[in-house]
Amino acid sequence: MEERVFTFNPGPAALPLPVLKRVQEEMLNCRGTGMSILEMSHRSKEFESILNDAVARIKRILKLGEEFDVVFTQSGASLQFTMVPMNFAQDGKPLGYVDTGYWASKAIKEAKNLGKDVRVLASSADKEYTYIPKNFAIDPGLSYLHITSNNTIRGTQWPSFPNVEGVPLVADMSSDIFSRVFDPKPFGCIYAGAQKNAGPAGVTIVIIRKDMLERIPQSLPTMLKYSTFVESNSLYNTPPCFAIYVVDLVMEWLEETIGGLAKMEEINRKKAQILYGYIDSQDFYRNPVRPEDRSKMNVIFRLPSEELENQFVQEAKKAGLVGLKGHRAVGGCRASLYNAVTIEAVETLVDFMKDFARKNG
Ligand SMILES: Cc1ncc(COP(=O)(O)O)c(C=O)c1O
Repeated sequence: MEERVFTFNPGPAALPLPVLKRVQEEMLNCRGTGMSILEMSHRSKEFESILNDAVARIKRILKLGEEFDVVFTQSGASLQFTMVPMNFAQDGKPLGYVDTGYWASKAIKEAKNLGKDVRVLASSADKEYTYIPKNFAIDPGLSYLHITSNNTIRGTQWPSFPNVEGVPLVADMSSDIFSRVFDPKPFGCIYAGAQKNAGPAGVTIVIIRKDMLERIPQSLPTMLKYSTFVESNSLYNTPPCFAIYVVDLVMEWLEETIGGLAKMEEINRKKAQILYGYIDSQDFYRNPVRPEDRSKMNVIFRLPSEELENQFVQEAKKAGLVGLKGHRAVGGCRASLYNAVTIEAVETLVDFMKDFARKNG
């Protein structure tokens, strides 16, 4: 294929074109060093300044106060399912979880595997995870309450976060971090694999409120302790330098080209409105999610039959619209509208959907 396609992949996902061009420009000679970022020592002052810039931008964008640290880890959000309970469980205090689907269930499974006292306070399994549970009781004696802010596979998103009154919230924000404004204060920890809204695969962003560090058992293996990453500025061992560099560029784009998180949220709202607005206006495509809990990042939709869904995905690909197949666990179709997906891409998708419905409806 000669031209670039419109990418609706769930992750790794679309990256902003100006960022990709910048990576290309700097690939052989990164900022006057005479070498590629891929060749640079992680102990060099040039790399450390890139890493520090990424951290500073993340803090500014999310309005994180002095009480928060930002670190970069590896092994994806999936390792965080284990590290969070290892680091933050307190003796005699159960761990609260909300089960909103596939990734939330995996987080619960890992906490249980460690033998922790896990309480699933609410679940939307009764209706195939098509909504976000609300108004459930939160015991003030919990170590923390874990939620998945956006459910990539089921296409649901917490419209607002539960009121936890003293219990630290812990959130897997892998698929909606940097997509909307929120108040970070109730959060003890936020983690997100970068490969959806923040950069390439290979690095995970972890935000930790400093008071949470006091809970970490000394006996944990060094690489599984958040304090190791905080104390070494994410440089205890060789970090994923290239991925961190691209995260820095994406953060720069978000701040300086888009104009910050409120602007980004406005664009994301518009994109979601275009697609849900069309889906709601006809009956060939269907979205099963409770409207108030619909994700602005991952829009799932079904067609009248699985054959039509397969045909849709294939024909869309031929038309330059890629990544529309639903997750293998649930089937159907899904368009991921992460930050780097443009309004033009969504409009092109809707035009294609209209055309496909006309021909096959
Ligand atoms: C919400 C959520 N959590 C966790 C994961 C797993 O992330 P990783 O592959 O970085 O371990 C994903 C991946 O798609 C996700 O969408």
